Amino acid sequence: MRLTRTRDLAASDLHAFNARVNEVVHAHPVVVDNRYTRWFARGEATRDEVRHLTVQFSVFSHLFVEAQLRKVINAADIESYRAGKEILMNELGVAFNGRVDDEGVATDGTVDGSFYRHAAAHFEWLLRFAKPLGLEFSDLGKRRHATSSTLFFCDELWRIYGSDDPSTAEGASYAVEHWAAAGFWKELIAGLSAFRARECPGLNLAFWTWHDRVEDQHAAHTADELAEAYVTSGFDEHRFLEGAAAMLDGVNAFWDGLDADRLAGRTAA
Ligand SMILES: [Fe+2]
Repeated sequence: MRLTRTRDLAASDLHAFNARVNEVVHAHPVVVDNRYTRWFARGEATRDEVRHLTVQFSVFSHLFVEAQLRKVINAADIESYRAGKEILMNELGVAFNGRVDDEGVATDGTVDGSFYRHAAAHFEWLLRFAKPLGLEFSDLGKRRHATSSTLFFCDELWRIYGSDDPSTAEGASYAVEHWAAAGFWKELIAGLSAFRARECPGLNLAFWTWHDRVEDQHAAHTADELAEAYVTSGFDEHRFLEGAAAMLDGVNAFWDGLDADRLAGRTAA
């Protein structure tokens, strides 16, 4: 159903739309009840379990770059094209404002006019994190390292987050940001800190702590972004909600896969 009436009615409609978004996104199991990260936060994960998480997360994190590039290519206007490239270039190693803070790379600003450094690529942070776990470049970030549930998630990201339908892609973005801001980074950091203190003092948590700081900023903006998307011409509520729901099902598959693996003792990396 494509909305054809004028967007003058948007303010009152937005209220009803917000309620639908709340039902679909804010109440989704992966947002309110992520069993895996809740368990992980207790700090009881073994070395093999931490390695398994690292490998699966590295595939998601690496293939996310493909989905982000597709999102840029499919962007509906120059503003979202540029916003997408901020994320893409930063992911690949261009620091915001060329600035380096205590964690190595600033969490806000722009890549415009900044410079590229190999070591600033998020995947390279993850390589440094993984080294004390005995994981090398060849162990991380490739499709062949993924379980079927991780692959399902990555393929859904490419399909929905990178969709050529702007309303679908917008719904997926909104869903991903909400999932990411719901606290899973903090739960992983809690578990990893406990693991580091217990048996792996050389563990560098910058990859995880940087992303957690970014999400804290994003969370503050999502309500504005939703209102903005809503008044964009051609915006389709139904496709937005469908994209959001399907994307969260993909995210859920990733974490459910990890949860099933730990319960079954599958940790092969
Ligand atoms: Fe990243």
